[in-house]
Amino acid sequence: MLQTQDAYNDWAKTYDTVINKTRDLEAVALKNILGDATYQSILELGCGTGKNTAYLAGKCEQLIAADFSEEMMVVAQEKINSVKVTFKQADITQPWRFGKADLITCSLILEHIENLDHIFAQATKTLNPGGQFYICELHPYKQLEGSRAKFEKDGELHQLAYFVHHISDFTTAAQQYGFICDDLQEWFDDDDRSNTPRLISFLFGKV
Ligand SMILES: C[S@@+](CC[C@H](N)C(=O)[O-])C[C@H]1O[C@@H](n2cnc3c(N)ncnc32)[C@H](O)[C@@H]1O
Repeated sequence: MLQTQDAYNDWAKTYDTVINKTRDLEAVALKNILGDATYQSILELGCGTGKNTAYLAGKCEQLIAADFSEEMMVVAQEKINSVKVTFKQADITQPWRFGKADLITCSLILEHIENLDHIFAQATKTLNPGGQFYICELHPYKQLEGSRAKFEKDGELHQLAYFVHHISDFTTAAQQYGFICDDLQEWFDDDDRSNTPRLISFLFGKV
């Protein structure tokens, strides 16, 4: 199996163009949840090809967009022309050195991260008082049904390494690091709640 970083470097060229309901529904969730809120500074973790970067830049004075895949960020940088945005190559499993922020976003990145405690510990250090932490991920039910981040290259299907985080794993880690859950939603294909939810989203507030 490819290492996650190598896999995203390979996936970068086709990530935006292949059919991907998870990618597209997450953009809907982000916009719906953040609504018309504005922030001084935002830290976007796992910015990828910049699907949400321009939208987030429109909500703040300063945005750091971070990812460990150089190739994903090359695609993002081609799309973004804003002095507000700084791209940083970084692995979020390491200590974070991004400076302070009022909002942190994680869109479809935590399924690749084993240790949620590390993420919440770093997030609480990074957020200013009253700051918010938005997370939206493939729903654990969907993962248990076999959904995975995957892409095709040269006719071969590559599945990425993943970790299942249950809903209580998120809420327990959040509580342990001083967050309260302001919003929890499940997102369904075509809004059809008779099916397994595709995504789960949280908006945590730093107490
Ligand atoms: C499924 S993509 C999501 C990209 C974007 N947020 C979106 O919603 O389209 C996951 C991204 O997380 C990045 N990523 C995965 N593990 C990471 C890590 N440990 N540190 C930094 N970035 C990571 C990958 O390189 C990839 O760009």
